[in-house]
Amino acid sequence: MIELLTKTPPSWAERAVSRLPELVADHAVCELQAAVFALALVGRYPGDPALVDRLSALAAEELRHFRKATKEARRLGAKPHTRRPNPYVSALRAACRGGREPEQGLDLLLVGALVEVRSHERFLLLVPHLSAEPRLAKLYAELAIAEERHGPAYLALAERHAGSEAAVARLAELLVVEARALEGPPGGPVAVHSPA
Ligand SMILES: [Fe+2]
Ligand SMILES: [Fe+2]
Repeated sequence: MIELLTKTPPSWAERAVSRLPELVADHAVCELQAAVFALALVGRYPGDPALVDRLSALAAEELRHFRKATKEARRLGAKPHTRRPNPYVSALRAACRGGREPEQGLDLLLVGALVEVRSHERFLLLVPHLSAEPRLAKLYAELAIAEERHGPAYLALAERHAGSEAAVARLAELLVVEARALEGPPGGPVAVHSPA
C-alpha cells in the first residue's frame, strides 16, 4: 500500500472537466506510455519470470485502456497528440538512478508504482464530476479499478527486485519527488498529471 504525500484538490478535477477533450487526449497518451514503460521493463529484465509475466499482462491492459481513451478523445473532437512533454513523469524519471543494480530496477519499478497510484487517485476524483458525461464517468470508474491493482503490482516487483527494506527506504525518498513534481504554476495545459 502506498500513501501519497499529497492529495489532489477538487479544483484539479473541476478544471479538467471544463476542458475534457484536452484531458482525454492527454490521458490516451498516458495509457500508451504506461504500456511502453511496462514493455521496456520486460525487455530490460527478460530473466525475471515474475516481472515478465506481470508486466507483459499489465502492458496489454494499458493498451486496451489506450484504445478506449483514444476512442473517447476522437468522439470529443480532441486534437490527437502522440508526443507531448509530461513534466511530472520527467521529474520522476530524472530521479531514477542508472547503471547499477538493483538500484536501477528498483527506481524504475517504484516510479511505475507511484504514477499508477497517482493516476488511480485522480481517476477516482474525476468520476463524481462527470455526471454530464456518463460514458466518461463509466470509463474512469472502470479504469480506476484497474489502476488500483497496478500500483501494488509494481511495488511488489520492486520489493522482489531489491528487497523489502531497500524498497521501503527508496519509496520514502521518491514520494517526496512525486509530491514536488506536481507543484507548479496553475494555468498550464490540462493533463492527468498537471499541477492542480
Ligand atoms: Fe491504464
Ligand atoms: Fe495502469
